[in-house]
Amino acid sequence: MHKIWLDTDPGFDDWLAMLMLSANLDVSWLGVSVVAGNAPLATTYDNALRIKKHYHLDVPVYAGCDAPLGGPMETAQAILGDAGMATTGETLPQVDIGALEAEQSARIKRNPLPHAVDALIEAVRANPGAITLMCIAPLTNIAVALQRALDIAPLIKEIILMGGSSDQGNHTAAAEFNIFADPEAADVVFRAGIPLRMFGLNLCRQLQVTGAEVQQVRALGTARAKWLAGYFDAYLRIRSPDGSVPMPMYDPAVAIWLKRPELFSFRPAHVDIELEGRFTRGMTVCEFRIPRRAQANAEIAMTVDGPRAMQCMMQELLGTLS
Ligand code: BDR
Ligand code: CA
Repeated sequence: MHKIWLDTDPGFDDWLAMLMLSANLDVSWLGVSVVAGNAPLATTYDNALRIKKHYHLDVPVYAGCDAPLGGPMETAQAILGDAGMATTGETLPQVDIGALEAEQSARIKRNPLPHAVDALIEAVRANPGAITLMCIAPLTNIAVALQRALDIAPLIKEIILMGGSSDQGNHTAAAEFNIFADPEAADVVFRAGIPLRMFGLNLCRQLQVTGAEVQQVRALGTARAKWLAGYFDAYLRIRSPDGSVPMPMYDPAVAIWLKRPELFSFRPAHVDIELEGRFTRGMTVCEFRIPRRAQANAEIAMTVDGPRAMQCMMQELLGTLS
């Protein structure tokens, strides 16, 4: 059984990863910390609560950091729209945030709700050596937790993160978005000495979404499937206006690994985060010559059986939409 704490910035692909976690019977899902990333915090938190409510996710959701440790705020709204996730169909209905927070407060007997960073620190201390941090967003919440509570790094079992790349970037030529949005935070996390698996763009580009997956969701015909299909369709159209060019799948890669680890291969590497470069800030510089040139601080996901992994993702998702 994996004890998972999810750190996220929904985001459509974050949404898929959340549904996959909720479907995985080998996962005990302790909490969700939300951070600014794809959009400002108010928007990513609102998205997270709408997903929780309409898809019946039985997990506490906490609002976290609203600005990066260093550098200016960077979102993906230029690509994903103001809401951080666009739809070609019906918008996921609004929720009453105050009412949801009151419900959650009563459930965990805490009023007011703690900040996500404090909730995360408490969860790690209460489950020493047991929690896997699944990070699919800029790493601000995690870095702040590690800086605020110096005792917790050795208590974290493992970090599994979507971010970085062993080759090209996406937000810039060199950098992947989650790392680019807060390189100083990523630097803290990669240096923390916690076992870490990195699922970067080099891996995620082996997972390709096409119109077939969107159709499978739409064909279910339920309200939940209809909402998701509209966002799925808009996601596919990021690459090409008519959706004809396959689109890589990012955050669910980590959730697929939790379900089907045998589909993946890894290589140890030492990863440094570029904090300075004029063209390369946020780049994950991967030294694979281990131990000749460096000590490994990460296992980098290198290959995945793409078709089987996508099949796994769809099977898990479809089960949550009835
Ligand atoms: C990552 O950036 C975000 O836009 C996605 O949600 C994913 O976490 C991909 O680079
Ligand atoms: Ca994300």
